[in-house]
Amino acid sequence: MADNFTSLSHENRIFKPHKDFSARAHIKSFAQYKKLYNESIKSPEKFWAREAKNELAWFKPWKKVLDWKVPSAKWFVGGQLNVSHNCLDKWLGTPTANKAALIWEGEPAAPGKPGEERTLTYKQLHHEVCLFANVLKKNGIKKGDRILIYLPMVPEAAIAMLACTRIGAVHSVVFGGFSAQSVADRVFDSQAKMIITADGGFRRGAVVPLKKNVDDAFPLNDAHGNCLTKTIEKVIVLKRAGNEVAFTPGRDVWWHEEVATVDANCPAEKMDSEAPLFILYTSGSTGKPKGILHTTAGYLLGAKMTSKYVFDLRDEDVYWCTADVGWVTGHSYVVYGPLANGATSLMYEGAPNFPEPDRFWRIVAKYGVTILYTAPTAIRAFMKWGDEWPKKHDLSSLRLLGTVGEPINPEAWMWYHTVIGRKRCPIVDTWWQTETGGIMITPLPGATPTKPGTATLPFFGILPEVVDDQGNAVPHNSGGKLVVRKPWPSMLRGLWGDPKRYKEVYWSEVPGSYFTGDGCRQDKDGYFWIVGRIDDVLNVAGHRIGTAEVESALVSNSKVAEAAVVGRPDALKGQALVAFVTLKTGVTATPALRDELRNHVGKEIGPVAKPDDIRFAEALPKTRSGKIMRRLLKQVASGAEIKGDTTTLEDLTVLTKLGSAED
Ligand code: PRX
Repeated sequence: MADNFTSLSHENRIFKPHKDFSARAHIKSFAQYKKLYNESIKSPEKFWAREAKNELAWFKPWKKVLDWKVPSAKWFVGGQLNVSHNCLDKWLGTPTANKAALIWEGEPAAPGKPGEERTLTYKQLHHEVCLFANVLKKNGIKKGDRILIYLPMVPEAAIAMLACTRIGAVHSVVFGGFSAQSVADRVFDSQAKMIITADGGFRRGAVVPLKKNVDDAFPLNDAHGNCLTKTIEKVIVLKRAGNEVAFTPGRDVWWHEEVATVDANCPAEKMDSEAPLFILYTSGSTGKPKGILHTTAGYLLGAKMTSKYVFDLRDEDVYWCTADVGWVTGHSYVVYGPLANGATSLMYEGAPNFPEPDRFWRIVAKYGVTILYTAPTAIRAFMKWGDEWPKKHDLSSLRLLGTVGEPINPEAWMWYHTVIGRKRCPIVDTWWQTETGGIMITPLPGATPTKPGTATLPFFGILPEVVDDQGNAVPHNSGGKLVVRKPWPSMLRGLWGDPKRYKEVYWSEVPGSYFTGDGCRQDKDGYFWIVGRIDDVLNVAGHRIGTAEVESALVSNSKVAEAAVVGRPDALKGQALVAFVTLKTGVTATPALRDELRNHVGKEIGPVAKPDDIRFAEALPKTRSGKIMRRLLKQVASGAEIKGDTTTLEDLTVLTKLGSAED
């Protein structure tokens, strides 16, 4: 992986949990973790049955804990429950009812100014969710229908998600930074009946035109010539930014007007354990994003238990996960996990450095945030902006820090520990994926000694292993593929509408085991060190981007003949996207064309997928069988000397033409 991930060896540097922290933690010692972990692996069904009984509220008990036939898992078969009931109704009539469920801070208007604020207690959130669930029903939504949610980071995003779960509709949240084309692709694939969006969202002082993107998605066609009108019957629009938007009568309705027409009596539907809960699209190594499907009971159990033990949630915590609800981290650790625990979850709408680079620290101090969960990319950016910004604020409320989304380099870990945690706060580096639903490899803060740069050891019930190409476990300190040997409750249940691809991608690489797509190494203590993706998926600033998707966006431009996209190490974002592009005959490579192509990708996918660097080439290096030699391109992109076997290269001269970033 990148140099910046290996330049410090902290492998022998161990941070033991502080005894005061351990004394109050849910899991108080390493011995206690090991005992529970061993039990969870030895008798998984007994373990999960006990946890499901203790942690979740059921309408009807299950008959069978697990029905497992590779690659199909059914957990808690025959049971019935409801996610919104577990996150909301469960707390009514308890002291938690009047506690803040969501604290929301909007994007601030000016330097030094607070953003708009809103707090919803569990009781208030329950009320809002019931109202909106009735709005969904009134607008024709039935159990099992799919709904796209395309909203900014506002409480209504959580309200819409919970309202779907209340009536058994399946939500698919689309990150607000994605384009009209991405919205259309997700509707085509999920066959959604409704889109919930907003007039606009605020981002760095500008308005993101969400409703306009939805309107722009309507005329787009899929490969079979279908357009959105075929399935989308209604668009519900939240008034947020106050900008002018077009309205299509009969199809578009205002959120606030609809809510005014319904009452708040909406009993939660009794849902089967395996009823689809949500679909979340994520990049794969080929083609369009895959619709990861999660179901009701197993997902909720995973989100709830990991939130409780990894973040060591307590009643008095103010917990802040900085992820957007458009990503899985926002699903499991802004909405479902914390609310199922009766915790206070903070949501922030804006960017970490708008209007000034102390935005996060201002919020920590203002609300007395006790737990902060963010991405290594953000931490590296804060390091770059300088210590003076966090030092201006009182961060003494913090007691636990977390990271997710990409490997954290030891330098960033140490900075987080020293400058933000003031050497008092444990750090939980949590490894997991959209597919896993919840955290899989992680320290438990009162129990696990940590080392900067490793996610340490598996969570209860999770059996990861590092294996070779034959699927055999490799000795400690040898690299290999990371697989998971046993099914777990919050695992994905499939790819929406594509069982074949589900089996191929996840269950065929190492037959019988779940293949993560990540490379990994275990050290002498058995700690897992994630190296990064080993498929053609890049991790750019904690966002998963498939190189194939960016390539197909590039070649959809009429001036491009061929494109190959690879990653290069980037000190800030972990990886940066480099595109090698050949142009159609007669088209000249210019800096203006480079901008045009970057914007084209932005329009096709979203700004997160814009290549950092576009290099024009006369030809791409290929093997005699016509395969693009990505290994060589990666070396060229990172400026490394070209090594290894080039004898199968069709035309050696193309290599010399690729090196320059100039036109
Ligand atoms: O490569 C791993 C990396 O992010 C991938 C999953 O991306 P996504 O599904 O978008 O989910 C991100 C949030 C859970 C993984 O395959 N990754 C995630 N967490 C870590 C990580 N790599 C190293 N260390 C982590 N803590």
